[in-house]
Amino acid sequence: MAIAGALLKLLYVLGGLAALWFTWRVLEWGWLSPRRLGRALRAQGLRGTAYRFPSGDLPEEVRLLAAEVAKPMPLLSHDISARVAPLLYKGVKDHGKVSMGWEGPTPRVILNDPKLVREVLSNKFGHFKISQLPANFIKMVANGLANHEGEKWVVHRKIINPAFHVEKLKKMLPAFTSCTSELIKRWEDLVESGKAREIDVWPELQDLTGDAISRAAFGSSLSEGRRIFRIQSEQVQLATHMSKTSLYIPGYTYLPTKLNRRVKANSREVEELLKGIITKKERAMKNGHGMETTSVLLTWALILLSKYPEWQDRARLEVVRIFGKKQPDHEGAHQLKVVTMVLYEVLRLYPPITFLERQTYKEIELGGIKYPPGVKLVLPVVTIHHDPDIWGKDVNEFNPERFAEGISKASKEAPAFFSFGWGPRICIGQNFALLEAKIALSMILQHFSFGLSPSYTHAPFPVSTLQPYHGAQIMLEKI
Ligand code: HEM
Repeated sequence: MAIAGALLKLLYVLGGLAALWFTWRVLEWGWLSPRRLGRALRAQGLRGTAYRFPSGDLPEEVRLLAAEVAKPMPLLSHDISARVAPLLYKGVKDHGKVSMGWEGPTPRVILNDPKLVREVLSNKFGHFKISQLPANFIKMVANGLANHEGEKWVVHRKIINPAFHVEKLKKMLPAFTSCTSELIKRWEDLVESGKAREIDVWPELQDLTGDAISRAAFGSSLSEGRRIFRIQSEQVQLATHMSKTSLYIPGYTYLPTKLNRRVKANSREVEELLKGIITKKERAMKNGHGMETTSVLLTWALILLSKYPEWQDRARLEVVRIFGKKQPDHEGAHQLKVVTMVLYEVLRLYPPITFLERQTYKEIELGGIKYPPGVKLVLPVVTIHHDPDIWGKDVNEFNPERFAEGISKASKEAPAFFSFGWGPRICIGQNFALLEAKIALSMILQHFSFGLSPSYTHAPFPVSTLQPYHGAQIMLEKI
């Protein structure tokens, strides 16, 4: 009896100690650490929002985004920062170009200054790491180069690099032309001669870029490739939903909710499909965001060329001068100047990835401020791309001419174009994406003229990439 009583007491004591330890950890995570980090940053003059336990600015971000999604924008407005990145925009407007907010208990500093962004992305001190999403998010959605660090990243980048070499890209060109030919054939069957027909090009272009990347990477295993990209797309949407709605409830992603079960089932299916068909280098093609980023680039390009027929004509004239009615080739694609200027201007106004993130893990001085470990640095591509101090008064106008002498001459503060990132981790697929976009756009311009449909509603919205929320309804007419 006495022994049982003593054991019970011991259990009570151990339980009490565990409860104390747990309370201390929660207090440290949700209260003491944010207060410490917040004080350290404010003491150096950084302004911004105050920390709210435990989710920081996340509820406000969800509220602002939900309010914006309902509102259509004026058709000709490209002034999208307040809509697609409301919290970052508000932070910069209310508290300055370098200001702070809170992502849960983690301080988040916005660096709306191209010089600081370049400094962070060139990562010369090795003091920043790719800002980590929850570990199982990475495993399920984007287990690849984009999420590796240090030695592991160096090795992977080296393995993957040759797959994107110019000679390899040349070999991929037939994949791009044959996929676009199929798309054009389908559209030609839908559109009667002499009549314009409305097509929502957004899902069409998603399939096009999915097919092109699958064909380039997986050769004949097209159907498996397509299925993988469909699932990966759904994964990104589900995981975005998870991270926005879970509001940092620790362990939320392990709960057996319907959403979590679906994400895990998808993850298992992708693994099974991949096991069967791909080799090490081919993995490069599926990791990251290749298909979705290129399809939104092409979609916004068609929307903008619909709005600006003078640029559509200029681009078509160039395409016809270089390729005539023939299928585009690699050499010709290199001579496309107007098409390239148009694509850069589309990427400036509608960057597929609206912001990048890094996290400090050592103390680092940047722009006169010492950042302690554990601070998220937000590199807001979209607000930098829409800053009149950097691009001039016509910042919100569609003016591809600004890229006539290349990226470095396009802005006052140069370079300030970050659609593909910068420095050692710059997008490995940028030449792949630009070549594919040039080929697809050239072939569409050779076969169709197009304008916006009256049913098109201008509503850019950041899901995982910057997408047209209500689709991209375009009136196509055969030439
Ligand atoms: C318009 C199309 C694209 C855009 C706008 C884009 C944008 C970006 C950006 C901004 C980064 C840097 C991320 C960071 O620094 O945190 C990046 C990295 C990356 N991109 Fe892309 N991308 C595009 C197309 C592609 C394609 C087609 C592929 C592959 C086929 C690809 C594969 C990758 C990979 C693997 C990385 C990680 C590189 C590393 O960490 O070393 N991207 N991309």
